[in-house]
Amino acid sequence: MELASKDRPLCLGILLSGRGSNFKAIARSVAEGRLPGVEIAVVVSNVADAAGLEAARNLGLPTAVFVSKGRTRAEHDADLIACLRAHRVDLVCLAGYMRLLSPEFIAAFPNRILNIHPSLLPAFPGLEAQDQAFAYGVKIAGCTVHFVDEHLDHGVIVVQRAIPVPESDDAHSLAARILVEEHIAYSEAIRRVAGGEYEIRGRRYVKRVG
Ligand code: GAR
Repeated sequence: MELASKDRPLCLGILLSGRGSNFKAIARSVAEGRLPGVEIAVVVSNVADAAGLEAARNLGLPTAVFVSKGRTRAEHDADLIACLRAHRVDLVCLAGYMRLLSPEFIAAFPNRILNIHPSLLPAFPGLEAQDQAFAYGVKIAGCTVHFVDEHLDHGVIVVQRAIPVPESDDAHSLAARILVEEHIAYSEAIRRVAGGEYEIRGRRYVKRVG
């Protein structure tokens, strides 16, 4: 897979459903020159009043809303695919996008969809991962950025960041500290994918040799 090109920036399509702090961290990395050759082509949401969308508009970025209610997953995702293609998106970044993607969507962007999950996968997939980790009593927590495949929170891992869980933590403070790591991890993962120096080998994302 060759994503990087000297002639054209790598275009991101961000999908979000909520406050969009991961999106904002990515936008800051782009604006501050920490993701050279990368630009955000469009920010898309399935939630019309998502705070992240408002933040994208305030940054002057193109936005789109596709409300999923009353539509099949395939119908909804067909609109999404068309929108991302119209904006020439190379890499889709799920940033708190709380809706499962159809197989058609995943096939449309093979190994070109990243997701961030607030646990050290494969531990605690699914919803409220930080609460799951805290309730389980883990001593180390963290976040994962991974490629999306057809299974939930399962694809090849690009970046993980780990933090200790002190006894003074509660579920809320733990989630807040994981979020700080998420904001670092997502830009690092995009840098790796955009840079063209890494490749997928089996389940591993490793530096190319030669
Ligand atoms: C983040 O913690 C992200 O890891 C999580 O939703 C939050 C979105 O926050 N995603 C998942 O749990 C996906 N399974 P944000 O809107 O501030 O980026």
